[in-house]
Amino acid sequence: MFNLPVVPEQASEFAGPYDTLFWATTGLTVFFTLVVMAMLFVFCVRYRRGSKASRRNPIHTHALLEMTWMVIPTVLGLAMFFWAAYLFVEQRIPPKDAMEVYVIGKQWMWHLQQPNGIRENNELHVPVGKPVKLIMISQDTLHSFFVPAFRLKQDVIPGRYTTQWFTATKPGKYHMFCTEYCGTQHSEMGGYVYVLTPRDYEKWLADGGQKLTLAQDTPVERGKLLWEQFSCGNCHVDKDFERGPSLFGLLGSKRKMEDGSTVVADRSYIRESILDPYPKLTAGYDMTMPEYKTQLTEDQVLHLYEYIKSLGSAPSGAAAASTGGRRVSMAAKPESAGKNL
Ligand code: CUA
Repeated sequence: MFNLPVVPEQASEFAGPYDTLFWATTGLTVFFTLVVMAMLFVFCVRYRRGSKASRRNPIHTHALLEMTWMVIPTVLGLAMFFWAAYLFVEQRIPPKDAMEVYVIGKQWMWHLQQPNGIRENNELHVPVGKPVKLIMISQDTLHSFFVPAFRLKQDVIPGRYTTQWFTATKPGKYHMFCTEYCGTQHSEMGGYVYVLTPRDYEKWLADGGQKLTLAQDTPVERGKLLWEQFSCGNCHVDKDFERGPSLFGLLGSKRKMEDGSTVVADRSYIRESILDPYPKLTAGYDMTMPEYKTQLTEDQVLHLYEYIKSLGSAPSGAAAASTGGRRVSMAAKPESAGKNL
């Protein structure tokens, strides 16, 4: 008769623990509400005007009673806090072997991309039982990625990567929403997550994602194309040289900045340096690197990141200087190369 589900379906490993927390919070709230209401009612009746209840010897202090109503709620409150904080933190630290999926929010769609190159709009296919790490960023305004059945919800922010992970536990089709008002078509921004058995997922991959995408090149391959298109290799070769520092072995390394500070080259730093290099110039270099903030989309930045990551460390015994020299001699100006897009 009442088809009114109180909580969504449970389809990820977080769903159970989150629901337990939800019911515990609800249960405690209801319990204390009833206790207060009941006492209110009893006292109202007992001490109503004209009642014969004794009003002599009113109690002004009662140390044991006061301690009880301070200590018990404090312990309960702190227990709820640590319990919730534990789950909150856990959902933000993905396991090392998690499959990485890029989530790019834009007005008004979700663009999702897997490491094998499969790209989807408003759809995501994942295998059951495998941890999936979402690396999310917005192309324009604030969005929020929400899959109720997974108990997964995270703001997707322009200019900053956010991460959450999940392990789907049940094959099926689950609603995906944008849950941050992001403009006139906000309500249409959404789709479905398809959880497949490992076998079906392999089949889906082999079919090229059921022809959902035309190009199947991986993010690294696409990054390499961009690298060539924007002539990044004119200045960034396998060794530091006068026009630009080497990007080999860049990821995770400590970089000295022109202002004397030190920065660890992570995903955010690399993104910032591609789009807006001047605030964090590598020590020893001038403002010769063009800004790409108006030329690259967020998914292109992610592709370039993947390519830079794939460079690893510098090839041993490479004649870096001569390579560099040769590349410089036929260098097109990076700015003009960029405009050919
Ligand atoms: Cu995107 Cu609402």
